[in-house]
Amino acid sequence: MSAIPELTLNDGTTLPAVGFGTYPLRGSAGVEAVVSALEVGYRLIDSAFNYENEGAVGEALRRSGLPRADLRIASKLPGRRQRYQEALNTVEESLWRAGLDYYDLYLIHWPNPKQGLYVEAWRALLEAKSRGWIRSVGVSNFLPEHLDALISETGVAPSVNQIELHPAFPQAEQRAADKARGIVTESWSPLGRGGSLGDPTLLRIAEAHGKSPGQIVLRWQAQLGALPLPKAGSRARQAENLAIFDFALSEAEMAAITALGRPDGRLKGQDPAVYEEF
Ligand SMILES: NC(=O)c1ccc[n+]([C@@H]2O[C@H](COP(=O)([O-])OP(=O)(O)OC[C@H]3O[C@@H](n4cnc5c(N)ncnc54)[C@H](OP(=O)(O)O)[C@@H]3O)[C@@H](O)[C@H]2O)c1
Repeated sequence: MSAIPELTLNDGTTLPAVGFGTYPLRGSAGVEAVVSALEVGYRLIDSAFNYENEGAVGEALRRSGLPRADLRIASKLPGRRQRYQEALNTVEESLWRAGLDYYDLYLIHWPNPKQGLYVEAWRALLEAKSRGWIRSVGVSNFLPEHLDALISETGVAPSVNQIELHPAFPQAEQRAADKARGIVTESWSPLGRGGSLGDPTLLRIAEAHGKSPGQIVLRWQAQLGALPLPKAGSRARQAENLAIFDFALSEAEMAAITALGRPDGRLKGQDPAVYEEF
């Protein structure tokens, strides 16, 4: 397997160019899946307070025996904890659950714009960073107007915006908006939860490269400059999803995959302008 390249964030820290998604892994099966992912080579692990698996992730890190400095561990603040003191308490609780001294990355999970508290939550994450609880601060599911509110109110842009991104929903405008603000885009459900990997375009490109459709989709993400977070339960698929740095897609292949996008391509219609998650 080729080495995983690194992306540099706007705060000078780095992330590997692909990470491991952990929803809905939890309990002892979750620990085993994350240990396996670490053994096959993942060094970035994405979790969330709401996934109820920060404890399982922390246990897996300890069992792996890997040096803490080699790992990048991320979690996310739930919508019901966006008030300043609640947010700080939640970051601390996330640390205790995982048995960690710090998170490498902590994100506001959803903006929940009707609630109107995400700037307050952002100030709390900045305070958590200044206390050393978080190395990099970021957001998830933020639209350009939400990013601009954070930047104009606090002067600090997120380092990462984690968004829904897969061939049915390529997010060209949001990716461009993130890039223009110096923000790295991470992709959730990068494989579209596996549902559309039988698409004839993907199968044709996969055959041409001797790769699987999943690998083609993840390589497309990497070449777009996005950082995919595929989840896979089995060790074989975990390894398959990392082996995407030993080939390249042509411009025509990239365009053919992007052309699979549809305006209504979201998996569950979760539009951050209106959708709320607590
Ligand atoms: N920020 C947010 O709001 C948000 C929302 C959703 C997800 N996320 C994050 O993003 C991560 C990934 O998203 P996701 O789990 O929804 O979807 P995903 O990674 O796109 O797809 C996971 C599904 O695809 C299957 N799969 C994995 N590798 C495959 C391959 N090479 N070929 C065929 N199928 C494959 C998996 O099956 P097996 O497991 O059975 O192998 C699983 O059913 C989550 O785990 C979570 O960390 C964040």
